[in-house]
Amino acid sequence: MTATAPKPTATKVSKRTEMLESRPVNLDGFVEEWPEKGLVAMESEYDPKPSIRVEDGVIVELDGKARADFDFMDTFIANHSIDVASAVEANAIPSDEIARMLLDPRVSRAAVLEVTRGLTPAKLLDVVKLMNVVEIMMAMQKMRSRRTPANQAHSTSARDNPIQVAADAAEAALRGFAELETTLGVVRYAPLVAIALQIGAQTGRGGVITQCALEEATELELGMRGITGYAETISVYGTESVFVDGDDTPWSKAFLASAYASRGIKMRFTSGTGSEVQMGNAEGKSMLYLEIRCILMAKGAGVQGLQNGSISCIGVPGAVPGGIRAVAAENLIACMVDLECAAGNDQSFSHSAMRRTSRLMPQMMSGQDLICSGFSGVPNSDNMFAGSNLDVEDYDDWNTIQRDLQIDGGLRHVREDEILQVRNKAARALQAVFAELDLPRITDDEVEAGTYANSSADYPFRDVLEDLKGAQSVMDRGITGLDLVRILERTGFADVADSYLQVLRQRVSGDLLQTAAILTPDFVPLSAINDANDYAGPGTGYRLSGQRWEDLKRLRHVTSASNPETEVS
Ligand code: 5AD
Ligand code: CA
Repeated sequence: MTATAPKPTATKVSKRTEMLESRPVNLDGFVEEWPEKGLVAMESEYDPKPSIRVEDGVIVELDGKARADFDFMDTFIANHSIDVASAVEANAIPSDEIARMLLDPRVSRAAVLEVTRGLTPAKLLDVVKLMNVVEIMMAMQKMRSRRTPANQAHSTSARDNPIQVAADAAEAALRGFAELETTLGVVRYAPLVAIALQIGAQTGRGGVITQCALEEATELELGMRGITGYAETISVYGTESVFVDGDDTPWSKAFLASAYASRGIKMRFTSGTGSEVQMGNAEGKSMLYLEIRCILMAKGAGVQGLQNGSISCIGVPGAVPGGIRAVAAENLIACMVDLECAAGNDQSFSHSAMRRTSRLMPQMMSGQDLICSGFSGVPNSDNMFAGSNLDVEDYDDWNTIQRDLQIDGGLRHVREDEILQVRNKAARALQAVFAELDLPRITDDEVEAGTYANSSADYPFRDVLEDLKGAQSVMDRGITGLDLVRILERTGFADVADSYLQVLRQRVSGDLLQTAAILTPDFVPLSAINDANDYAGPGTGYRLSGQRWEDLKRLRHVTSASNPETEVS
């Protein structure tokens, strides 16, 4: 008999392919590299080759460009970011040698910094190009500035509902986030939501610091008034044309940085791969090369840290080959120039749970100053930063990964009764403050909703127009953090008042300006000064152990070994 079975046709697909087509990862977008337009992660033949020339203490040639041809980024970096005294010698060290120093646990972090502080942008790129993702992680473990890792959450509301923000901030603080940030749908709501965030944070765990991402003047004013505790979304970009598009220069950003520093307010810049491509002016350079210019700009401006890891542009590196490796590399380079790194893992970029997790692993496993610079402490439907890579649905998964791998991701499982208690108290404290300030009333029903809610849909509607009038009056009356402390004190929330006052006091001491400073529950600044990363190989550096490890062994459901009928959590 001759075989008559049909051959494959062009139109019919297998059940296997059909199944794969339906997988979430195939909803993600992927593109081919296009180096001429900067749509390439970190390997582009159009990137400059490293070079440096110094005359009379001035950098006269940088990465193949003479001083006369510098754009303003080159000028700023040459004048302020590169250690001229060590630059010629440092750049003469072969890149593979520097890459080995980064990995070798016998070479201390301080010894690496001696070299990296003199490197040019192209040289930094040349070094990390040699490293695969595991090597990047090994280096990150040694090079992050603070020994103890920490985490940051978003606390926002799709309805800008201040009660929701207060309650979710309280829960997030209790779960372990060191920093909380908010932003708005309706910007004019900001004063009320920033107050809610601060009160919620101090109720959940005294010493958590908060910020409200806004247009620069208002953000600065809220900081100066002591309604917020730090600032982060001061954007910098890697090309002059994109910078100018935003009516800014490296000097205007440096000036803004000084304004924060003058009041003892913690501050970091924000940048990340992909922003220049997204804004249509990458000037034909790879995403990572441009990001290195941003990192060095932050360094030169004298700010203590940088939020990078692509941030709101993660879709761009996420779509090209090696893009997520480049994102890990940009975090590493921030650490290599001795900046605090708030490492991203914020904006959502993938439909695939596996891809979301693998994007997170370099930062979570090696530890970062802030592993997520925005874990959504609200459901992503309420996330006004356009959704995060992680949200409240992932709390238990996160805690389980910490326990599985014995790594500290900055969070912990908290019992329901404790959570309800702080959510309720935060809502009541905000209720009292609103009443004292003659702001639109917060009802007992809203407090009840805040105690038990998951999302903004679980709250009664507020009168938005009245709230906005109230928000304006907070600005008009010049309400400050100290006013809020006084009100909390006299309305029965003395402990919240005390925590808030302690946070304000830090501005006077200036300790939050130290690299990677966060506050412990005892209001001690923990920074690269008094908690320097001392990783020097196996058995050294930060280890998850002692009481902290005992805490992290607890999960929502853990069966008792001695009595399998019961749960111990
Ligand atoms: N480059 C520069 N700024 C960024 N931001 C987010 N991603 C980037 C990036 N890749 C800033 C923007 C945004 C805020 C959330 O952070 O200012 O509004
Ligand atoms: Ca952030």
